[in-house]
Amino acid sequence: MVENSLSPASITNNLETHFVGQRVIYYPSLASTMEVAKQEAEKGAAEGTVIIADEQTAGKGRIKRVWLTPKGNIALSVILYPSVAYLPSLIMLASLAAIHSIEAATGLKSQVKWPNDVLINGKKVCGVLIESNVRGDIVDYAIIGIGVNVSLRLYDFPEIQPTATSLSDELGREVSRLNVIRCLLVEIERLYLALLAGGSIYEEWRDSLVTLGRQVQVKSGKTIYDGIAESVARDGSLLLRHSDGSLSKIVAGDVTLRD
Ligand code: BTN
Repeated sequence: MVENSLSPASITNNLETHFVGQRVIYYPSLASTMEVAKQEAEKGAAEGTVIIADEQTAGKGRIKRVWLTPKGNIALSVILYPSVAYLPSLIMLASLAAIHSIEAATGLKSQVKWPNDVLINGKKVCGVLIESNVRGDIVDYAIIGIGVNVSLRLYDFPEIQPTATSLSDELGREVSRLNVIRCLLVEIERLYLALLAGGSIYEEWRDSLVTLGRQVQVKSGKTIYDGIAESVARDGSLLLRHSDGSLSKIVAGDVTLRD
């Protein structure tokens, strides 16, 4: 039986970080960790403060979608105060941290579907949401939100069953949620410090994308683009080659793989 109850101490005890996860605010149930993280950031919470919930009743996904977090899964938000130049890298950082920690904790290999869906065997296991408050060049705060399907039984959620998976469904056994959380926090800090020290995480993120070289359809706002996902720019945008040879640079959108 895997011990899966959460408490701030179980997360922070001997956690090998300097600031990420050194303060953890835990809720058994919460609408969304993003909202509480914003309130804490506005009150000046220390950088690296983590808001974590056992269950979210109104979890937020990208593009105003809903994110399901029944008990037994991971829903956390991390408060950071980066300078504006680092904002585009946070999406890359969060998805790489997810891939690394999933592999470290379970041995499962995952990939990123642009911009930040983490997939195992083509199905989504983790989602990343970055929200920030920026005034001109001043970043008041940035919040990294990460949701991981750890023990989600897809059988109980037919609406997402064709496109989603969970760590326990992939492995056919229980998974230590605590272990994944602690690995995630260590990885977030390691990658963030590497970034601040002038390192680049763009190349690794680009190489982890399952999207590149594939025929895709991208929904961006009300526009639908078709083409081959040729590359990604350093600011994270997708470069899409159309059949007439022209190239679109897409900043945000939702990708469907067509081949
Ligand atoms: C997506 O794939 O659309 C992004 C999903 C992000 C979900 C996480 S769970 C923790 C944090 N709190 C939320 O309400 N959303 C993010």
